[in-house]
Amino acid sequence: MDIEKAIQLRRSVRKYLDIPVEMEKVGKILDAGRFAPSGGNIQPWRFVLITDPDARQKIGEACVQQHWMARAPLHIVVGVEPHKSKRMYGERGEKRYALFDGAAAVENMLLVATAQGLGSCWVAAFDDEALAQVVGAPGNAIIVGVLTIGYSDENPVMPLRYSLENVVFINEWGSRRKDFAAWYGYTSHHVQNLLKKGKGMLEKIKDKVQDVK
Ligand SMILES: Cc1cc2nc3c(=O)[nH]c(=O)nc-3n(C[C@H](O)[C@H](O)[C@H](O)COP(=O)(O)O)c2cc1C
Repeated sequence: MDIEKAIQLRRSVRKYLDIPVEMEKVGKILDAGRFAPSGGNIQPWRFVLITDPDARQKIGEACVQQHWMARAPLHIVVGVEPHKSKRMYGERGEKRYALFDGAAAVENMLLVATAQGLGSCWVAAFDDEALAQVVGAPGNAIIVGVLTIGYSDENPVMPLRYSLENVVFINEWGSRRKDFAAWYGYTSHHVQNLLKKGKGMLEKIKDKVQDVK
């Protein structure tokens, strides 16, 4: 699957089939995490694989009672050790870079999970201390997310996204182009898909109109 397709297809999945994830696929997801960029190439991340059902249950509890999580056959807890980034970059490394690094690793992992036909969800609503205790994370680590991974038992539609006009500024923060697509000569995949859908619907209606005639 190409990268753009994986980005489009990735959805947060909260219902999973009771099928284990093949180790080969897990390995590729973990590799995607460690191949992410990091400030100064410090790679402050750590990945904790959780397959034990009791532990998954406890993790769901620690994640503000998100009990659905336990049904995912695999959790990957992604944490960072900010003191590693602090050594090279001081407070900026500790407070920002380490978290950015962790987030970059997470997104890489979610995309490779998607590309391998797996569902996933980045869960970051949790009680820090309770979760650290369940996974035995040291006090100097920050958990940036629990990734639930498994074969999806649902087909979520993409939640609404702002259009490019809303989120892109030109040359200066706050300077928008309402006609961004026309100006830039770019039609997003989302719009392209809608147009394709519209065309398909028109074709169907055309047949029906001909039937009536
Ligand atoms: C930082 C962060 C924290 C999130 N925490 C949770 C969470 O605790 N529980 C949950 O079900 N989804 C969580 N999500 C998933 C978002 O709800 C989801 O990405 C968003 O609704 C967009 O849907 P999509 O991922 O299908 O595009 C989180 C996502 C991010 C990036």
